[in-house]
Amino acid sequence: MPKQDTVTIIDNATGKKAEFPVIRGSEGPPVVDIGRFYRELGYFTFDPGFVSTASCRSNITFIDGDAGVLLYRGYPIEQLAEKSNFLDVSHLLLYGELPDSKQHDQFSSIIRHHTMINESLKGFYDGFYHDAHPMAILVGVVGSLSAFYHDSTDIHNPEHREIAAHRLIAKMPTIAAASYKHSIGEPFVYPRNDQSYCGNLLQMMFSIPSERYEVDPIAERALDMIFIIHADHEQNASTSTVRLAGSSGANPFACISSGITALWGPAHGGANEAVLQMLAEIGDVKNIPRYLEKAKDRNDPFRLMGFGHRVYKNYDPRAKIIRKMCHEVLNKLGDANDPYLELAMRLEEIALKEDYFIERRLYPNVDFYSGIIYRALGIPSNMFTVMFAIARTVGWVAQWMEMIAEPDQRIGRPRQIYTGASRRDYPDR
Ligand code: ACO
Repeated sequence: MPKQDTVTIIDNATGKKAEFPVIRGSEGPPVVDIGRFYRELGYFTFDPGFVSTASCRSNITFIDGDAGVLLYRGYPIEQLAEKSNFLDVSHLLLYGELPDSKQHDQFSSIIRHHTMINESLKGFYDGFYHDAHPMAILVGVVGSLSAFYHDSTDIHNPEHREIAAHRLIAKMPTIAAASYKHSIGEPFVYPRNDQSYCGNLLQMMFSIPSERYEVDPIAERALDMIFIIHADHEQNASTSTVRLAGSSGANPFACISSGITALWGPAHGGANEAVLQMLAEIGDVKNIPRYLEKAKDRNDPFRLMGFGHRVYKNYDPRAKIIRKMCHEVLNKLGDANDPYLELAMRLEEIALKEDYFIERRLYPNVDFYSGIIYRALGIPSNMFTVMFAIARTVGWVAQWMEMIAEPDQRIGRPRQIYTGASRRDYPDR
């Protein structure tokens, strides 16, 4: 194919011609730069849901949705899940490279020493009703961090940005565990800096002051792997929300809080909680055909939760990893006969043979199996999306830092097609 550096658009109404440059990334399809489209041709472009529109340049994460490939800074997700750990992956996402052993020690020490939250921040939890959803608490408490850590909110200062990034990654498990403890009426447990990132989270969630608690290494490793595969996913809804909020110059704590709100929706990170609700509702393998009929019925709002993806038109590589993990983890934790796993596997098997799912290229996504592992780890379903938010914080922060560091960064401001009333005068009454 000849090298193509521009795309020419001809306006059939006026005969006017305009050329637009083609930008090539290191991977992925070429992109037409339409920044001058309105100036050249007088049209806006329309792409609801951003199906064909790149919103930024990024060198953090790459997805090939047709091939089912996910790379963080070039490394395949399968290799990272197998060989790395969440903090090294966090370093990779934030700084572009895996840490050497000295950098590993430094980074993990920094993260471990930022795990405490300001004591006054704990007072916030008392304002939440006892049965508040932990995601609601997370949104509020993370948003309030900017009221406590003013010394790291100057977004034009790279040191401030870095400290805010470290604080967010380090404090998220503490805030999340406290949200859980509040929801079950147990006392908050302080972080322990001698624990790993995930070990610490587990002890803050499950230990109680009156008893000794030993972190289960199988649970710790399983959670670490789940966090690796959730750490970033390029310009999804929550990450784009973080970038858009950040483009106005808002502080990083406020931006991450906005990302958490976007993640909560059932079409995005809230799907992991919705999958378990769905499996509970289906209840038995014999009911699967009835629910598949509902999923296929355009007039029924029911969708197969944990199925389908905007970008993956092939098996989500993260779902593949989690599916395999499910068997290993459940075997080791003694839940090998979990009826939900059996039901999920049968549902997948039956759905993937149906024309509806084949034609639309709908496969299980990351959320389809993650809830089953969380359940085996003793994590309640209203904490599933919170777990996702903890892991995704590093991705949000890395993307936010990348955006702020861009010299030509501008406020994000989409256009619209106005379909309301044209100008009219206020009636004389
Ligand atoms: N069940 C049944 N039908 C589905 C499903 C599903 N889960 N997902 C998509 N479809 C159908 C749509 O009805 C549509 O059919 P049509 O062409 O006859 O109208 C077709 O497949 C294309 O779907 P869209 O909604 O246009 O795809 P989109 O890219 O906008 O949505 C999404 C992707 C939101 C993930 C969707 O597949 C969905 O709702 N899935 C269930 C929720 C879910 O699991 N979300 C988690 C995604 S992963 C993540 O965010 C971490």
